[in-house]
Amino acid sequence: MSRKRIPFVAGNWKMYKTIAEARQLVPELVRGLSDLRGVEKAICPPFTALMAVKALLEGTDIGLGAQNLYWEKEGAFTGEVSPMMVAELCQYVIIGHSERRTYFAETDQTVNRKVKAALEVGLIPIVCIGETLAENEAGQTQAVITRQVQAGLSDIQLKQDVDVNGTVPLIIAYEPVWAIGTGKAATGEFANRVVQEMIRPTLSTLFGEPAASSIRVLYGGSVKASNAAEFFNQSEIDGALVGGASLKAQEFIEIVRAAAESV
Ligand code: PGA
Repeated sequence: MSRKRIPFVAGNWKMYKTIAEARQLVPELVRGLSDLRGVEKAICPPFTALMAVKALLEGTDIGLGAQNLYWEKEGAFTGEVSPMMVAELCQYVIIGHSERRTYFAETDQTVNRKVKAALEVGLIPIVCIGETLAENEAGQTQAVITRQVQAGLSDIQLKQDVDVNGTVPLIIAYEPVWAIGTGKAATGEFANRVVQEMIRPTLSTLFGEPAASSIRVLYGGSVKASNAAEFFNQSEIDGALVGGASLKAQEFIEIVRAAAESV
């Protein structure tokens, strides 16, 4: 069991942190994260704080991500943000988070358009998938996960030239909806099995085996400092998408430390 993928930990701030609050949090993160090597890190603030956070991250190895984009290049789409606008500031973009699917009517089809648009401008999409509690209890996890990966990533050509780290510029986040913001994380073993038996085989049918085994698959859902290692020690889990715990500097730093120590 070789771990050839570099771990990746991203903080999803959701709709938290004004610019003023971000200016307090980010320097603490920079201080705590700068000596943690062997792991890629990113933070994903709200759109309004991106410029300020970008300036604070200058000269660090901490990446920046947005939480959404719209697929059109430009136009009369009041309230939306284009792929190029995001790419001017960020390296990453979260796409298809379950909160967007639930509250903003996003579907596998809109996810697919957004992923294509992101890749086109050189952004690395962090594509979120995951089953609800009802689906989990009805034994539909495999069907839901397979559908979300297949439909969300259909008709996409991944550049075969993998990046300098040998990883593909596409990241999946497996986030069971029942584990998000509930304090009730999945077990490492369950999440690993979903990645191994459902996500990677589907990626393999879409992109072929070498690419499928180079794509980072994160776990997300109530990750905190005290349970992070349980996920990072799994063979198929390559990091975490962290919500609530990414708003507290020390918690997030400890999670990244656990990822660095798992290498
Ligand atoms: P949580 O959120 O860590 O607060 O559960 C994770 C996410 O929604 O990405």
